[in-house]
Amino acid sequence: MKRVLLIIGGGIAAYKSLELIRRLRERDVAVRVVMTEAAQRFITPLAAGAIAGERVFTDLFDQAQEFDVGHIRLARECDLVVVAPATADFMAKAAHGLANDLASAVLLATARPILFAPAMNPQMWANAATRRNLETLQARGLSFVGPNEGEMAESGERGVGRMAEPEQIRDAVFAALSDGPLKGKRALVTAGPTIEAIDPVRFLSNRSSGKQGYAIAAALAQLGADVTLVSGPTNLSAPVGVKRVNVESAREMLAASEAALPLDVAVMVAAVADWRPMKAAKGKIKKDAAGIPAIALQENPDILATLSKLGKKRPKLVIGFAAETDHVEEHARAKIAKKGCDWIVANDVSGDVMGGAENTVILITKDKAEAWPRMAKEGVARKLAVEIAAVLDAKSPGRK
Ligand code: C5P
Repeated sequence: MKRVLLIIGGGIAAYKSLELIRRLRERDVAVRVVMTEAAQRFITPLAAGAIAGERVFTDLFDQAQEFDVGHIRLARECDLVVVAPATADFMAKAAHGLANDLASAVLLATARPILFAPAMNPQMWANAATRRNLETLQARGLSFVGPNEGEMAESGERGVGRMAEPEQIRDAVFAALSDGPLKGKRALVTAGPTIEAIDPVRFLSNRSSGKQGYAIAAALAQLGADVTLVSGPTNLSAPVGVKRVNVESAREMLAASEAALPLDVAVMVAAVADWRPMKAAKGKIKKDAAGIPAIALQENPDILATLSKLGKKRPKLVIGFAAETDHVEEHARAKIAKKGCDWIVANDVSGDVMGGAENTVILITKDKAEAWPRMAKEGVARKLAVEIAAVLDAKSPGRK
């Protein structure tokens, strides 16, 4: 049985943590609860303990509690630490390594993976101090789920700051605890646009949002894969359990992709700029220097083709995306041949796919072309991850 240590912080979203305990227990995850003092202003240890089926821990300086279990044992006797709700204050304490109450001491003492589900007022979430703390914690390898956009419970304000729903946190917990079908497999996903410098302030780029690639990275991680997401600039946060490498240009994306080798699967979803300026000017090109400048372009490296043609180091499965408006299957088959990849996920981009929430795709492999119904990008991602798992499982020696 997997064991989660749930730290409940002091926010109104604490009431949703009771539901989270129930959702985890109904899937056979044991939950031990630590509550901060502020959390006890919102919900009682009695309620949390009744749902968890265990006593709740609240006090670092309670002799009986420390004698009985102690903060070091709490920190060790679990597979994952979850902080929900993670308040702005708790994030700040964690970022600085403070340990002046039981919850923060446990967090500092644990060597287990940690998942935060932040909840706070949108202004507090957007504040530069919180952003910095978030970056610090992410850089330290902590995972985050949410916050989501929506209405705040206290003020009725809208914005990003609502704690993720209990089911969403439960899914993130399972991703973090995962021993799914892709456990031990190494995956690369490229996502988002690339930007190609004209000079230090100007660049060429495109409208890719990165949504489909991020959803695929998340879905692969949920099945247990060890995922590297090489991403051009986007507004998205890294999915739970995924290692993100930020890049700007196609050449940086290629280098970061090669650095992720060896790989079992590579899914190239990025909208890589086809061309870049021949030469990025060192200084800002002056507006009135010599009239309108001509920007000569040169071809960018093709990351998908490069990885497909690696020889011995080639990932077992290489998947490309193709945006098509007509003769989708024919063009996609030509692309498989030209690039040397195994599959193409062809999207019909005649609608509002770029930046939109849904996608209509055809999965084209050497021996099939399967049109999937229009669905959310997360749905496409999950279905693709399942197809990938089926193939990699069959390719693994010694497994049926
Ligand atoms: O050739 P085209 O741009 O249509 O191919 C799209 C596919 O190739 C996508 O999977 C995209 O991520 C990948 N690609 C790449 N490097 C490039 C251009 C495209 O990896 N320079």
